[in-house]
Amino acid sequence: MNCFVGIDASTTATKALLMSADGEVLGVASSEYSYETPRPMWTEQHPDLWWQATVESIRRVLAESGVSPSEVKGVGLTGQMHGLVLLDDDGQVLRPAILWNDQRTGAECDEIRQRLGKERLIQITGNDALTGFTAPKILWVKNNEPQIFERVRHILLPKDYVRYKLTGEYATDKAGGAGTLLFDLEKRDWSKAVLEALEIDPAWLPPTFEGTAVTGYISPQAAEATGLVAGTPVVGGGGDQSAQAVGVGAVEPGIVALTLGTSGVVFASTNEPFIEPEGRLHAFCHAVPGRWHLMGVMLSAGGSLRWYRDTLAPGVDFDTLLAPVAEVPPGSEGLLYLPYLTGERTPYPDPLARGAFVGLTVRHTRAHLTRAVLEGVAFGLRDSFELMKEVGLADITQVRVSGGGARSPLWRQIMADVLGVELVTVNTTEGAAYGAAVLAATGVGAFSDVDSACAAIIRLTGRTAPGPARAAYQQLYPLYRDLYPALRPSFNAIARVGEQM
Ligand code: XUL
Repeated sequence: MNCFVGIDASTTATKALLMSADGEVLGVASSEYSYETPRPMWTEQHPDLWWQATVESIRRVLAESGVSPSEVKGVGLTGQMHGLVLLDDDGQVLRPAILWNDQRTGAECDEIRQRLGKERLIQITGNDALTGFTAPKILWVKNNEPQIFERVRHILLPKDYVRYKLTGEYATDKAGGAGTLLFDLEKRDWSKAVLEALEIDPAWLPPTFEGTAVTGYISPQAAEATGLVAGTPVVGGGGDQSAQAVGVGAVEPGIVALTLGTSGVVFASTNEPFIEPEGRLHAFCHAVPGRWHLMGVMLSAGGSLRWYRDTLAPGVDFDTLLAPVAEVPPGSEGLLYLPYLTGERTPYPDPLARGAFVGLTVRHTRAHLTRAVLEGVAFGLRDSFELMKEVGLADITQVRVSGGGARSPLWRQIMADVLGVELVTVNTTEGAAYGAAVLAATGVGAFSDVDSACAAIIRLTGRTAPGPARAAYQQLYPLYRDLYPALRPSFNAIARVGEQM
């Protein structure tokens, strides 16, 4: 039997998934870890954690599935995007990686806009400078840790550190590269103009590959560590969002992936680079060769519900928490929730944005608050759909919903009602690691291309159409839209007071 491994080095765990040549999941193993917050709003993780967890997960998935390592014909990589890994001349890690959800680089984002001009930056890279992206993290190290910066010889993304340990090669994929803010979006490679303006040595950056291209082979040392066979090809793969999209078959224009994980993501594939002129949507390369995508990212989607449960209903399981919500009318009787618990990216790239319940009265019960959270997240995701329509992506024919939050039929219904589109679920629910395995299978020739791979293995399993609550949500959406602009000055002032206390 031929099979393929997808590895997802995420923020909380590294997962190894084994997929057969006909798309069946033969096993999944996951090894967890945590991340450090050395200061408020800073997040860091040591790259060794990803490598140890990769070794453990590959060993475990092989042992538990009983698949012989010689049957593994390819490995695909995915993982958290944007994180900064710095290596010296000997390939040694210089400092803990600065992660995608770290917010320390506000000043460096301003510096980037100043050096390039915001408009030019967006024209070249497709994106505005956001604290989460890689380029401002590089400048932060330069500005704050010059003794480390002078020893930098290699810059990698998290999954590419795993690739380096697996193959000995420095390489990255186009989707991950585009998320650094150092990419020429149209050319699908590093931008000379951006690197020059930011004074970043191009020699530090690895060559870039399409998601299905072979970037190297399992080295004898990695074979010893993981149990895989030396010489097994490792393909480019992609950042977690584009690999997730491959995993649910959102690979062609018209099919949108809506992912309700900790974050909430609206992902639309395009045949050419589309740019939102203000940079409010991310415009990156897709893991599918020669395609691009637009993406709206809400930082706390499922994360909002988790925070709410942990704080206001500790110990209550999600089913119990959501059960009485169906009795509450759409609109939660005048209660609105803003989901910006960890700042926001889309449609407001604002690390100082904050969460809020607005409209509380004594009539409101816990069930009202719960419903308001589900609705607020749905309204926030609608913002991304609206932005996509504004840039001309009117032709959304299907929305494929996945992620932990999408398991709730009630939340799916609220989403369909708020968005006014039919949502479909698919048979493949293993997310980005599955997409990485599909890219590996395609890369070594098990499928002729990613479209055919997805067509062969992904099936629709359910549909949720907009229902009668649609009209109420149409009325409420403009009220939700008014809240952030009205509260923004307060959010800013609150953040300033917080800093002084
Ligand atoms: C995408 C993004 C997240 C991270 C963490 O832009 O920041 O998806 O990759 O998963």
